[in-house]
Amino acid sequence: MKIQGHPWRTIWPVEAEKAIEIIDQTRLPHALVVCRLDTVQSVVLAIKTMQVRGAPLIGATAAYGMALAAKQDASDASLHHAAQQLLASRPTAVNLRWAVERMLTLLLPLSVADREVTAWQEAATICDEDVILNQAIGKHGCLQIQEMQQLKKRPLNILTHCNAGWLATVDWGTALSPIYAAFNAGVPIHVWVDETRPRNQGASLTAWELCQHGVPHTVISDNAGGHLMQHGEVDMVIVGADRVTAHGDVCNKIGTYLKALAAFDNRVPFYAAVPSPTIDWEMRDGLSEIPIEQRSADEVAWIQGRTMDGGIVSVNILPDGSPAANPAFDVTPARLVSGIITERGICRPDMLRSLFP
Ligand code: MRU
Repeated sequence: MKIQGHPWRTIWPVEAEKAIEIIDQTRLPHALVVCRLDTVQSVVLAIKTMQVRGAPLIGATAAYGMALAAKQDASDASLHHAAQQLLASRPTAVNLRWAVERMLTLLLPLSVADREVTAWQEAATICDEDVILNQAIGKHGCLQIQEMQQLKKRPLNILTHCNAGWLATVDWGTALSPIYAAFNAGVPIHVWVDETRPRNQGASLTAWELCQHGVPHTVISDNAGGHLMQHGEVDMVIVGADRVTAHGDVCNKIGTYLKALAAFDNRVPFYAAVPSPTIDWEMRDGLSEIPIEQRSADEVAWIQGRTMDGGIVSVNILPDGSPAANPAFDVTPARLVSGIITERGICRPDMLRSLFP
């Protein structure tokens, strides 16, 4: 996608230096800062602190983390140690495990001398594949948007939660990919952007992306969606996911479940846009099986923003002595999900296996 007219990805290798560069997402929307990562430890830290975030991008970054580990020491012990550190960096997005396991499966049978070159190549392949999968999601989701827009005969209002745009992937995004495809095809749309407390990925990242691409949108507080649905102002919800079970339970950013409940009550179609590496075929019951990341209470207590004079500050919004809790994801049961948009097409949540036999 483009920033001020120039094409960007969220991650890229700097081959001469055997390093990678990323867009530091903790600095957006107020500053566009590129960070260089040249050790597996720096990759682990970037994932933990959410300089990179979003399930597909976490997976792609972890793949490069394995390449950086191979650069440092390509022995079995070193690669296993790196894999463990990466896997522990964030627990919920299954793309992380998928990418690390894919790298290990490829690298361990090779001679130690061959591992580093292959690791860099494979990480680049994972990134390129991510772009292709997300583009295909865009194509399938766009048809759904077009169809509904033709029925409504007015700009279609789509609500999204968190950031499942190109910043959350290598490029295009998942939930936002159909939105970009529809916008590029001239379909009149408008996006309701949930701010997504506590870290505000909607307000800081989704709104920024949509601004850059010129897509009409409005940022709303997390609590506004249900009201808008009751008043016919949301035609469709599209979210991303960090993990979808074989039976179609959707784990995504905290607050997604409440949007799905409101959508169900108001007969608003609720879609999750998901590339296949986000599907966990080993899990059936999302509610009891998916590990939910518990993040620091500081993310609830402290809010970062720009002051009138342009300074970036953090302020504490809690009374002294009030504890805070911060579960980062929730699980929307398959029964509340109208469809899963994948690179192979759209299906009912309980029919995923028919698309991926
Ligand atoms: O905590 P984050 O910002 O990594 O959470 C991201 C999300 O919840 C996204 O919706 C999800 O990863 C899908 S990304 C295409």
